Amino acid sequence: MLEHIDAELEDPILKVMASFKASTVSHKLDLGIGVYRDSKGKTPIFKAVKEAELIIQMQETSKAYLGPVGDTQYTGLIHQLLFGQLDCPPDFFQIIQTPGGTGALRVAGEFLHSALPFATLWLSDPAWSTHKPIFSGAQLPTKEYRYFDHETRVLDFAAMCEDIAAIPTGDIVLLQSCGHNPSGCNLSYEQWLSVSQLMADRGLLPLLDLAYHGLDQGQILDLQSIKAIEAHHDEWLLCYSASKTFSLYNDRTGALAVRNRTIQNAHHALSLILNLVCANYYMPPAHGASVVRTILTSSDLTELWKHELEAARTRIIDCRKALIDALSSSGTDDYQFLERQEGMFAYLGLTEKELAWLREKHALYFGPGGRLNIAGLNPQSLPQISQALTELAKKKRG
Ligand SMILES: Cc1ncc(COP(=O)(O)O)c(C=O)c1O
Repeated sequence: MLEHIDAELEDPILKVMASFKASTVSHKLDLGIGVYRDSKGKTPIFKAVKEAELIIQMQETSKAYLGPVGDTQYTGLIHQLLFGQLDCPPDFFQIIQTPGGTGALRVAGEFLHSALPFATLWLSDPAWSTHKPIFSGAQLPTKEYRYFDHETRVLDFAAMCEDIAAIPTGDIVLLQSCGHNPSGCNLSYEQWLSVSQLMADRGLLPLLDLAYHGLDQGQILDLQSIKAIEAHHDEWLLCYSASKTFSLYNDRTGALAVRNRTIQNAHHALSLILNLVCANYYMPPAHGASVVRTILTSSDLTELWKHELEAARTRIIDCRKALIDALSSSGTDDYQFLERQEGMFAYLGLTEKELAWLREKHALYFGPGGRLNIAGLNPQSLPQISQALTELAKKKRG
C-alpha cells in the first residue's frame, strides 16, 4: 500500500547536512548548519545548563504530564524575560510552552489559519528555509516581501517598506526580531518603529520570530523589536526559541505568546491554541523548560547564563572580523558587505552552481543561498574558507 511513495527529503539545510555526512574528504567543513560553535568546532552546553540539570536531577520527584500549556512557571519567566520591559499588564498575554521555536511557529500557523481563514502570511525574501514548509503544513498561504538587496547584499529597507505598504489589510507579516536568518541583516530601532507604524496604518498583524536572542546586538538590544511593535499594536504574536539562547537545541524548548487587545480575547485565544495543541502533540516535553526555569529562578545561574551567552556573542563578532580581515588581506574587496551584516549568519547570495563548486573544489558546505555560519569559523578553518572565497570572487570577475 505504501510502495507508491516516491518522496525525497526537501529541507535544504538537512540536504546539505546529508551530503556533508556522505563526503569522505578529510578536510570537509560544514558551514551551513545553524548552531553555535565554539573555537574547537563543538556546540557546547552552557555551564549554567549543566548546573541546572544537576539541581533538577536531585529535586525532580515526578514526570507527570505538564498539560498543554506546559510549565507555567517557565512561561511566566519567559514573559518576564521578553515582555517585562513593556507597560502592558501580563493578563493581556497568553503564553504556552512549545517544542522549540519550530513548534511555536507551527502552532501559530494553525492558530492564524483557524482565526483568520482568508489571511496570507508574508515572509521576508530570503526567509529561514523552514518557514515556508512550516506554514504550508499549517494550511496558511505565504507570500514574500522584499527585504534584502541581492546586488549589494545588505538590507533593502525602502523595498521592504514599499512591499509592506501594499500588503492587503488583514494579512500577517512575519518579522525576525534579531539575527535575521539567513541574511544577517537587521533593522535599527528607528526602522522597527517605522515598520511597526506602517503595519498598524495598513491593519496588518505582526508575527515576531525570536530565535537568536542575545546573539546579535546583545540581550537588551535584541528585544527592541518587541518594544517597537508594542508601541503601535495591541494584537501581535511572538514565537520564541530557547535552542540557541540557552544551548538547548535537542531539548526542544520554545514558547508561543499572543498579545491580545482585551483580557477576554486572551482567554478565547488560549482556548483555541490549546485545542490545536491537544490535537497535535498534546503536551510539550518538560526537560528544557525545567532547565530554563531553574536558571531564571537562581540569580547565580542567571548571571552565569548571561555571561556565557554574551561570550558566545562576542566570539561571533570576533569570527566575523577575522573573516573580513582574512578576505581583505587576500586582496579581494568583494565581500565588504559582510561588515554590514551581523549575528550568527553571513549571507553570500550564491547560486547553486557556485555552491556546488565550493563543495566539490574546496569541500566547503554552505547553507542555502550561501548562508555561512559565522560561529563555525576558527583559526584552523579560516585560511581554507578565505582562499576559496577569494578564488570564487576572481572566477566571478572572469
Ligand atoms: C529564524 C528561526 N526561527 C525559528 C527557529 C526554530 O528553532 P528551534 O525549533 O530549533 O527552537 C530557527 C532555527 O534555526 C530559526 O533560525
